Amino acid sequence: MKFFLDTANLEEIRQAASLGVLDGITTNPSLVAKEKRPFREHILEICEIVKPGVVNVEVVSTDTAGMLREGREFASWHPNIVVKVPMTPDGLRALNTLVREGIRINVTLVFSPAQALIVAKAGAYFVSPFLGRLDDVAQDGLGVLHEILTIYRAYNFQTQVLAASLRHPIHVVEAAKMGAHIGTMPFKVFEQLFKHPLTDRGLEGFLKDWEKAREVLGDIVQAATAGKRGR
Ligand code: E4P
Repeated sequence: MKFFLDTANLEEIRQAASLGVLDGITTNPSLVAKEKRPFREHILEICEIVKPGVVNVEVVSTDTAGMLREGREFASWHPNIVVKVPMTPDGLRALNTLVREGIRINVTLVFSPAQALIVAKAGAYFVSPFLGRLDDVAQDGLGVLHEILTIYRAYNFQTQVLAASLRHPIHVVEAAKMGAHIGTMPFKVFEQLFKHPLTDRGLEGFLKDWEKAREVLGDIVQAATAGKRGR
């Protein structure tokens, strides 16, 4: 499973990238607006931090002509940019043209298997079902993801399923168990994936035991250097 971070915050992106398990970024207009910086400059900075990972950039026009203009513009900024269009008839029309021009498209705001079926038939690069927002309205986000993956496997569709709007580690683990190609998550959820109280407690115990026997064990760095010199 690829890990994408669902943020436009440079500090969060840098921190996640330094761990070596980050495959890309998803932004949306709300996330970018929070950063209050010139749009193009900001997106290009994100591209530099996560390269060769992809950066998803969303159009804000709602008509096909506007989406085509924005999509072509974003794609010209950097080769790793994937253009996000919403799951609307205008979005689908824009997708159709942009895909033929070789631009990779992520269809966002997908909430049903029927929508995801259309997205795959249209030739999108990514489909983004929003799990958390479905849960918010008392629908089963993971269930919808399962149905989408079943349909995609039945027809061997090439569109990659990007499980989005993930709100907690269980969302990520369940999406991974189902074989979702990508999970995109806020930085907080990314951090939570690392945590386990037994890891912290275990490390604390190891260090306490080492400290107790330090006099006998000696300094680990000195011992290693002395060993090398003796050879
Ligand atoms: C990803 O492409 C979406 O923009 C994102 O996952 C939405 O998440 P939210 O429902 O937490 O805002």
